[in-house]
Amino acid sequence: MTITETAPNRHGYRTFSIGEFTFQRDEYFVTIEWPTGTHQMAIDVFLRALQRDVAWGFFYGIVNFDSVFGTMNHYGTVDMFAGRFNDAYRRAEVDHNETFSHDDLMECFVAMLKDWTNDGYDPFAAPQETGQPFGPASGDNDAAVTRRRVVATRMVSVPDDEPIRTDESGFPINRHFLDVPQDEPDIHAEPGYESEVCAYNLYAYISRSDVTWNPSVVSACKESLYCPTSEEFILPVIHGNDRVEWFVQLSDEIQWDIEDRDSGSKRARVICKAGDVAAMPADIRHQGYSPKRSMLLVWENASNRIPEMIAAGQASVRAVDF
Ligand code: PHB
Ligand code: FE
Repeated sequence: MTITETAPNRHGYRTFSIGEFTFQRDEYFVTIEWPTGTHQMAIDVFLRALQRDVAWGFFYGIVNFDSVFGTMNHYGTVDMFAGRFNDAYRRAEVDHNETFSHDDLMECFVAMLKDWTNDGYDPFAAPQETGQPFGPASGDNDAAVTRRRVVATRMVSVPDDEPIRTDESGFPINRHFLDVPQDEPDIHAEPGYESEVCAYNLYAYISRSDVTWNPSVVSACKESLYCPTSEEFILPVIHGNDRVEWFVQLSDEIQWDIEDRDSGSKRARVICKAGDVAAMPADIRHQGYSPKRSMLLVWENASNRIPEMIAAGQASVRAVDF
């Protein structure tokens, strides 16, 4: 697969091509071209979505950057599409889909994210906590765009696993979470069991997250992953599920727009307040709005058999049938 990058254009940004897709940026927009159409997105919206798609390795199922453009993960290969999950584009037959190897598309996305992110702009940060992405190319923010994603093998705080967050390790308490108690549990392990009996303060951990809409794996029990995240402003992607996901709203409030995964028609609006639990079905797409920073626990089953079990009718698209 050939990925091409041009010399910088008059705004200082390179143009990237992979397969039959071309991406170019100017001071305000990305323009995406494919054989049957073109599409524009505001560059802040595009970079926030691109950052998530890169950091999450294309995530579970579908990452819609907006109602037209996105990627669908097949865990080894990845589809990149325009208009595929948009009824109007489908009916007009201007939709387009191409399949790439995970590594090729990742290489292209990583290069684009690096080249198009300017000094002082962090696509993971809440809009009030970072600079602007607009204007001609100026510098880079490689430290932000190559941030390591937290993925615990057993659990945060366990010896040789992900450490807890502290002021000293560069994770101060976020401005919206100054009231969150920071005490850590007392642990009295029998000698020899110090690496087996572990505990930490999850609320304190999330209160010190420096990013938004970026689930971290803080514990893994076989395929069951606890992925808490701190949320503020809008989920930068419209996520098309390929499995049921549980949402436990740990603080504050998130409003969710739920649409049919394939057509985009509206299905529900769900207001999650602190303490609410929602099981998002496997045949929807959703986008969340968090008016102030909030804490959300996303609970995933990471088994790569789930999409095929649903396709074969062996697993339901709903967690519960009433
Ligand atoms: C989701 O699409 O399920 C999702 C993604 C990122 C978040 C929260 C939820 O931060
Ligand atoms: Fe989701």
